[in-house]
Amino acid sequence: MQVAPKPNTYMPFGRGVHACPRSELAKLEVLILLHHLTLSYRWKIVGNEDGIQ
Ligand code: HEM
Repeated sequence: MQVAPKPNTYMPFGRGVHACPRSELAKLEVLILLHHLTLSYRWKIVGNEDGIQ
């Protein structure tokens, strides 16, 4: 059974005064990457289809 992570354990951009100042740019870049990956390739599940673990 899965246990929910404790709060504030996932902070990819840090926080506070030194939090990443370009986190919004970084997220936009990832969206553009995902856009091209989904449009440029056909995707299929390999192996069992139990979903993402
Ligand atoms: C997925 C992409 C990115 C991740 C995961 C990321 C993550 C981080 C993290 C964890 C920090 C340190 C925060 C801290 O010290 O508490 C940081 C700082 C920083 N990031 Fe990013 N970052 C990303 C992309 C970018 C981009 C695209 C830029 C600039 C165009 C950028 C510029 C900076 C700068 C200048 C700092 C230093 C901020 C400071 O010390 O005040 N980062 N980033």
